[in-house]
Amino acid sequence: MMRQVSRRQLLGEAALGTGALWAAAAGVSQAPALARPRFTAYPFALGLASGDPRPTGVVLWTRLAPDPLADDGHGGMPERRLAVSWEVADDEAFRRRVAAGRSPAVPELGHSVHVEVDGLEPGREYFFRFVAGGEVSPVGRTRTAPSGPTDQLRFALASCQAWVGGPYAAYRTMAEEDLELVVHVGDYIYEARNTESLADFRILHARYKTSPDLQAAHARFPFVVTWDDHEIENNWAADASQPDGEPSNEPGRFLQLRAAAFQAYYEHLPLRRPQRPKGPDMLLYRGLSYGDLADFSVLDTRQYRSDQLDDAFPAGPRDPRTDDPYRTMTGAAQERWLFERLARSRARWNVLAQQTIVAQFDYDTGPGASVNHDQWDGYAGARDRLLEFIAASRVANPVVLTGDWHSSWVNDLKADFDDPASTTLATEFVGTSISSGCPWERAVAQAVPANPHVKFFDGTHRGYVRCTVTPERWTSDYRVVTAAADSSEPARTLTSWAVEAGRPGAVPAA
Ligand SMILES: [Fe+2]
Repeated sequence: MMRQVSRRQLLGEAALGTGALWAAAAGVSQAPALARPRFTAYPFALGLASGDPRPTGVVLWTRLAPDPLADDGHGGMPERRLAVSWEVADDEAFRRRVAAGRSPAVPELGHSVHVEVDGLEPGREYFFRFVAGGEVSPVGRTRTAPSGPTDQLRFALASCQAWVGGPYAAYRTMAEEDLELVVHVGDYIYEARNTESLADFRILHARYKTSPDLQAAHARFPFVVTWDDHEIENNWAADASQPDGEPSNEPGRFLQLRAAAFQAYYEHLPLRRPQRPKGPDMLLYRGLSYGDLADFSVLDTRQYRSDQLDDAFPAGPRDPRTDDPYRTMTGAAQERWLFERLARSRARWNVLAQQTIVAQFDYDTGPGASVNHDQWDGYAGARDRLLEFIAASRVANPVVLTGDWHSSWVNDLKADFDDPASTTLATEFVGTSISSGCPWERAVAQAVPANPHVKFFDGTHRGYVRCTVTPERWTSDYRVVTAAADSSEPARTLTSWAVEAGRPGAVPAA
């Protein structure tokens, strides 16, 4: 519900409220407070963002960083805490303010600010901004989730944005789309060989956040994010680093790296309090509802998975142990949570937003079987359990959204992938990368005809998937560019696929 009260009232109340909450949740920062901050440069150089929409609120994010790439990882900020003011309005000119307050920015969290605004109205656009030390941030736009009967949802699926120097052609066009949400399924950053400390990860995140195109997308739509591997380390699995003499594979060292990576991730993204990491642990799987239309289960298939059986790239002979039901992609607790959520859901569409390809894919066109063991093919027993659950519980219109593989796919998820005549249980849309390359394109392309449940594949283009969801139909438009770092080229639609409600599997969209 909106409250019309004076600015003084709002600031007074909010300052008290957030202060008390913050003290209870995080412990009071030991750093001395900075009463009148003076910045060496514009402190909102990393832009702002919003995320995890609910019907009555969103998370607002910024990070004070006048010198974003400073060597010590402090972003040019002193070791002092300070308060940042924020406001939310109905209009871009901030004439009709609906919420305002102050939030702490503390050095322990890289002077990031996470504000969980509540009391807004469902399915509505809002504008927001921050003020610190007399400096005003750019204006962000966001949108709450709808509640109850919902006719339509438009969102973009994004992933894999390897640094290409600043411009991101895909985000440039995306920022001009009419969307309610962006779902990002990971590889938001790519670690380097020497990325190890909190300062290293902060500087890396800050570098990505200096992209004007990424900032534009964040300023326009709320994001729902989950990580994949490169936010931490290539193909990490639970507490296991990559083998073969990686320095981080020393006992205990990988968990330290994981803690640093998790914290920097939290500091740079619009996440709620339950997602704040506790050392090397961070609860990232969570659910979101878009009225009665769509239910999103956002998964973390890295933190709890069994270690990969094989690292052959892009694929190697299938290890028979992949069928072992004790091997897990999600961990037992997340799987239980997911199944309970799916069983309870009354939404028209049930969406799994996650990392690696679920569909079976055999790279060997002969009698043998060759798979990528990092993807669900390496966890076939767990995949069987998921698909059998979806079938047995009659989950309404299941759709899987996937990233990781830097290429566009449309897959039917089958009861038996080796039998093209078997029932199609769900549909998988694999979004291509925002910018990361796909040197394994040929290896996939030559095997597509031997995998008839793969309806479409393209490894040439970068981009994102624009999804339009109505009660009757899901449409995925593959929006692509040819040069990832050339923001002058607008994205175009490469192909469009649809799923009719009640009929799993994709068909070419008319
Ligand atoms: Fe990637």
